[in-house]
Amino acid sequence: MEASSAPQPGLRSEVNRDVPLARPGEFAPLAVGPLRVWPPVVLAPMAGVTNYPFRTLCRRFGAGLYVSEMITARGYLNGNRRTVLLASSREDESPRSVQVYSSDPKDAGEMVARLVDDGVHHVDINFGCPVRKVTSHGGGAAIPVKPRLVAALARSMVANARGVPVTIKMRKGVDDTLLTYREAGRVAQEEGVAAVGLHARTAAQHYSGEADWSAIGDLKSRLSIPVLGNGDIWESFDALRMMRETGCDGVIVGRGCLGRPWLFRELVQAFDGREPERAPNLGEVREILLEHAQALVEFFGEVTAMQQVRKWCAWYTKGFRNSSYLRERLQRVSSLAELEAGFEGIDAAESFPPSALRAHRGKSGRSQKVSLPLGYLDDLEDATPPCELFDAAEAEALEGG
Ligand SMILES: Cc1cc2nc3c(=O)[nH]c(=O)nc-3n(C[C@H](O)[C@H](O)[C@H](O)COP(=O)(O)O)c2cc1C
Repeated sequence: MEASSAPQPGLRSEVNRDVPLARPGEFAPLAVGPLRVWPPVVLAPMAGVTNYPFRTLCRRFGAGLYVSEMITARGYLNGNRRTVLLASSREDESPRSVQVYSSDPKDAGEMVARLVDDGVHHVDINFGCPVRKVTSHGGGAAIPVKPRLVAALARSMVANARGVPVTIKMRKGVDDTLLTYREAGRVAQEEGVAAVGLHARTAAQHYSGEADWSAIGDLKSRLSIPVLGNGDIWESFDALRMMRETGCDGVIVGRGCLGRPWLFRELVQAFDGREPERAPNLGEVREILLEHAQALVEFFGEVTAMQQVRKWCAWYTKGFRNSSYLRERLQRVSSLAELEAGFEGIDAAESFPPSALRAHRGKSGRSQKVSLPLGYLDDLEDATPPCELFDAAEAEALEGG
């Protein structure tokens, strides 16, 4: 790796130009049941992304709570090999956190009981997935439409968690005419969940537009348990701004860390009142990508890992000069050696491009019409679990939040 130039402060985009660093005592560690999380930062559950290798890489850079991707309860309980692998961890991971996907209180409770037996320290449930296949069967973002179902799911998970904190993660609602977050938050709190995460978009918005942080402030003003704000944290300063503007207790970081795991280092520094250090240059990014790819190969085996590596290559190299040429070369790699060779001839000293700071990765997405089961809105008091018509393997391909 090329020697980097003298330490420079990190980049800031215009929107964060004048944001002050955290003052001593300004923010408190995030309390999730018995867990104390400092800085108050949570890695968002992201399907196809937040597996053990990526969580480990993020932890190496920073600190916080790192949540697994959504794991379907049916697949897990049926012992689906891939589902069990995705839910798994290694001894070095603590605290260990898993997001459950289920709309059946019995399955969700049983899964939590097993996870706790397996040593998991935190469990979250997905009430925000906007994917058509999920909502059209009453799952994900459709669940909060039925507060009694939210209550039944939360109750079953809390009862089976034996003191391990349970949290929920949801969106503002189905669309602007059907906002569900206030009632779902209230009900979940009553059932004993330890904290609530809000992705401040509706399911109809998918990933489009800007997250509406005012909804996070609104939810915070209504609940006594911690509220985690989510949506559009691209830089450490966004996290400070979100917490100041909304009063929320912690932030959930999603797409901003895709191909930028050092964002967690910047978050530690900003919350500790230090100017975040400069982002890695291209040579350093290459080393981080190689480390990540190596870890994926160890966890998934070479064939599966290298399929995943291709999307990571696009995220890690975003915005660098000639990145489309580089990406094209990297799209074909099928081994670690080829990956390394793909970087031959790069300018390792090239600085991290400011344009990449807020460049969308993973999903940007247009708004959509949310599909609900026929007659779903006829009886909002109904708490019958919707039938999950897709199987576990399909659910994993959904990549849904
Ligand atoms: C690739 C990808 C996969 C996702 N998978 C999940 C998931 O499994 N569970 C979930 O609750 N949210 C999921 N989400 C949503 C994120 O957790 C987060 O709420 C969303 O990206 C908004 O945060 P951001 O603006 O920081 O990205 C996913 C998002 C992306 C980009």
